[in-house]
Amino acid sequence: MLEVENLHAGYGDAEVLFGIDLKVEKGEAVAIVGSNGAGKTTLLRALSGIIAPTQGNVRLLGEDVAGMHTHALVEKGIVMVPEGRRLFPRMSVRRNLEIAAYSKRARPHIEQRLREVYELFPILQERSDQLGGTLSGGQQQMVAIARGLVATPQILMLDEVSLGLAPVMVSRVYDAIRAIRDTGVTLVLVEQNVSQALSVADRAYVVQQGKVVLSGTGKELKDNKEVRRVYLGLGPSEEEN
Ligand SMILES: Nc1ncnc2c1ncn2[C@@H]1O[C@H](COP(=O)(O)OP(=O)(O)O)[C@@H](O)[C@H]1O
Ligand SMILES: [Mg+2]
Repeated sequence: MLEVENLHAGYGDAEVLFGIDLKVEKGEAVAIVGSNGAGKTTLLRALSGIIAPTQGNVRLLGEDVAGMHTHALVEKGIVMVPEGRRLFPRMSVRRNLEIAAYSKRARPHIEQRLREVYELFPILQERSDQLGGTLSGGQQQMVAIARGLVATPQILMLDEVSLGLAPVMVSRVYDAIRAIRDTGVTLVLVEQNVSQALSVADRAYVVQQGKVVLSGTGKELKDNKEVRRVYLGLGPSEEEN
């Protein structure tokens, strides 16, 4: 579904990504993990058209989409949920969701999508008239994910969905992500929370200083010595708890 080859991108003269290669198959959940500053958000920005790649190929279902603008990519179903939630704080939950269906692609499906996201997150239906800015962090993250779904994605890319949430909320958000995966939406999960991301992901890539340094199935990476030591803080045989 998505093929990325030798992708370079950055900000002005500062190159951040140095030749990223990755692939996402239809229906897969793929995690991109790595430390703060590794270039994960920059990668999502380049894939979602917020910044233009300086080199390399991005193909969506065989079509070259590198350098296309965000609105064109949203029409093709490449949807990113940015880090930090970014709701409209003075708009109701319902309005926040409705305006996420601005694309031609999404508009015809808005009622159906709203039913689906309210089923996934019942609390959002209860709070549908409440202003976005008055929700808890976890609820705001639910709205942010729901906004992504309302856009009717082929690929939904989520940037740090668990950052800053209490553990109980992290589990709840991840339950929702599993449910989304089970409906067949192709997912790209960018996470510093390596343990959570690897537990959901079919496959994962580890990014360090703008390069992919390791890849494999979620399970392979969870068992990898280097991943355990650097990202999970565990010894070779220690169990997570
Ligand atoms: N808007 C920006 N302008 C300039 N440099 C940036 C910008 N955003 C991020 N960077 C730099 O790019 C590098 C990668 O950042 P980022 O992609 O946000 O990493 P991650 O998401 O993995 O934490 C960092 O060195 C960061 O300082
Ligand atoms: Mg980031």
